[in-house]
Amino acid sequence: MAQKFTKAGVVGWPISHSRSPMIHNHWIKTLGLSGSYEAIAIEPENFDQDMRALVEAGYAGVNVTVPHKQAALAFADDVSPLARRIGASNTLVFGDDGRVLADNTDAAGFMNNLSQGCPDLVFEGARVMMLGAGGAARAILCGLLEAGVETILISNRTEAKASQLAEEFAHEGDILVVPWPEREAALMEVDLLVNTTSLGMKGMPALDLSLDALPLQAVVTDIVYAPLETDLLAHARARGNAVVDGLGMLLHQAAPAFAGWFGTLPEVDDALRQLVVDDLEASS
Ligand code: ATR
Repeated sequence: MAQKFTKAGVVGWPISHSRSPMIHNHWIKTLGLSGSYEAIAIEPENFDQDMRALVEAGYAGVNVTVPHKQAALAFADDVSPLARRIGASNTLVFGDDGRVLADNTDAAGFMNNLSQGCPDLVFEGARVMMLGAGGAARAILCGLLEAGVETILISNRTEAKASQLAEEFAHEGDILVVPWPEREAALMEVDLLVNTTSLGMKGMPALDLSLDALPLQAVVTDIVYAPLETDLLAHARARGNAVVDGLGMLLHQAAPAFAGWFGTLPEVDDALRQLVVDDLEASS
C-alpha cells in the first residue's frame, strides 16, 4: 500500500530565516518517509483564518514560532498541561477529526540538549542561574523544575518580569530574583548558567558578563546559536567550564514535534547538526 503523504510546516512572521524546514526535511529524507515540511508566512492579523485553511488542507500539524506562540494556544481546541504551564505553544498537531492540539517541545528541547551535551550534569538539587525572563525563559524554567532543580536564580533587565515568573512558579521550587546589576556576584555556587536573553546574538548587543565568580565545575549554556559559539560560551570554555551551545535546543525541540506528525521519533545526530552548522556558516 502506498504510504500516506504527510504535510507539515512552520508558521511565523517573518519566517524566511527558519532552519526548521532543513531539519524536518532531513528526517523525512533519511527515514524514507513520504511527506513535506514548508516554511509558511502568516501575518498576525490572519492567524486564525490561515491556520484553519491549513487544517482543512489536511496538514498533520505545524511548528509555531515568533510572534504566534500565544495565538497558537488560543487557537487550539485542546492544550497539553505543559503548553498551558508555559503559556505558549510551539507545536500544533491536527487530528483527523479537525481538532487542534497545542503542545510545547521547547522545554524538552532545552533539557535533552543539555543531557546530550553534558551527560554528567545532575539536575536534582542543582542551583541554576537563568539570565532573562521572556518566553524562552518560561519554557526553560518549566523544564528545570520538572527535572528536580532545587534553586533557580532569575536575573532580568526588567526586574518586574523576573519577579512575576518567580511568583508564578514559587510553589514549585526555590526561585529567587537577582537584580540585574548584581548578576555577576550571584554566580557564586551556581552549577548551571543559562543565557535565555537575546544578548550575544548576531546584531544584538554583547551579553558582557564577567564569569569570575562562577565555579569552574559549572556548566554554561546559551540559547543563542547565531553565532554558534557566543562570546559567553567562548569565555566560559577558555576558563575551563563545560559548555553546551544553543543549536542543540533547536534540533531537540524539533524531534518530538516530528514524532507527533510522522509517528517516528527521529535522531539528533552529527549529520543533522553539521547540515545546520554549514548553513549557519554560509549565511554569516
Ligand atoms: P524569547 O521568546 O526569545 O525569550 P523575549 O520574550 O522577547 O524573547 O525575551 C527576550 C529576553 O532578552 C528578555 O529577558 C529581555 O529582557 P527584558 O525583559 O528586560 O526586555 C532580554 N533582553 C533583550 N534585549 C536586552 C538588552 N539589551 N539588555 C538586557 N536584556 C535584554
